[in-house]
Amino acid sequence: MGVAITGTGSYLPEIKLTNRDMEMMVDTSDEWIITRTGIKERRICPKGKASSDLGVEASLRAIADSGIKKEDIDFIICATITADMYFPSTACIIQKKLGLENIPAFDFQAACSGFIYGLEIAKGLILGCGYKNGLVIASECMSRLTDYTDRSTCVLLGDGAGAAIISYSKEEGILDSYLASNGSYGNLLYTPGGGSLKSSSFEVIEKRMNFMKMEGSTLFKIAIHSMSEAVLKILEKNNLKKEDISLIIPHQANLRIIAGVAKNLDIPLEKFFINIEKYGNMSAACVPVALDEAVKSGKIKKGDLIILVAFGAGLTWASNLIRWVK
Ligand code: UT7
Repeated sequence: MGVAITGTGSYLPEIKLTNRDMEMMVDTSDEWIITRTGIKERRICPKGKASSDLGVEASLRAIADSGIKKEDIDFIICATITADMYFPSTACIIQKKLGLENIPAFDFQAACSGFIYGLEIAKGLILGCGYKNGLVIASECMSRLTDYTDRSTCVLLGDGAGAAIISYSKEEGILDSYLASNGSYGNLLYTPGGGSLKSSSFEVIEKRMNFMKMEGSTLFKIAIHSMSEAVLKILEKNNLKKEDISLIIPHQANLRIIAGVAKNLDIPLEKFFINIEKYGNMSAACVPVALDEAVKSGKIKKGDLIILVAFGAGLTWASNLIRWVK
């Protein structure tokens, strides 16, 4: 007996922001964005909608995919750095929108590594507390944290949501996880204002402190190193060779980062699932959206061993070793 992913779903808002659109907003070019990042377009959540709305759509698709009734869900957890509001949690807002009551629901955040942390949290809740089915969501409206006057960050980010049903299962699916973080790198990627340190004020808005700040080139190197480490650690812990893995689903921050990890590990780039060209960096939502697309496009088959891997603000980095049992 174990814990397995029994359903996946994703949702991308319809509004597209292409590289041509970005050219009208900042001093950039389609050519620069494609060659330096691999991104062609990203999706934007419409005004009046929020992370919970994207999360609900992804959840409904994951529930349908798993074949369970929504009433069979025993808990809801949501990874997001773009919560609808300080409180209540986005997980509770999603719970209400799904019409569910009297089950635990809470948010947690590990930035872009959120979904990978979430699978391990869900596994712990199922094995430790006796729950049967959990809904794990990663939903982000990164456009709300994006400074569309800063060309070094605005071309990278997009909105979207992914979800999975995690169930107690005859076959073990979530085999192992490697979770890491190092808070001393927090200053490389952060939003200085709008939190309890510098709450919303005229000064925060005027100085654009409510938007994401990033030291891109330093992060770039750390990202390649940390994602490579997360893949190697989980292989070592489980006495596996890289040849045993059918597919790696990485966080989609930059195509050159994914290519750097592939080179570092001497694993062909074809073994990495890549969809960054369509959506850009959706923080925690990247991995579950990519997982859902990989499953639905037939890239993952029953019995396959796959690795999910990500890094992000914190800094955090993490991997899951999954056997696909569905
Ligand atoms: O989810 C995790 C968080 N984020 C990341 O992991 C991002 C990691 N970093 C990266 O992906 C890359 O560092 C970037 C895509 C952000 C930047 O690429 P780069 O190859 O590291 O470029 P750079 O920062 O070294 O900048 C090279 C040049 C600079 O011009 P000068 O100083 O050489 O004249 C930048 O001003 O490119 C310029 N530049 C741009 N030019 C056109 C930066 N952004 C743009 C842009 N369009 N959008």
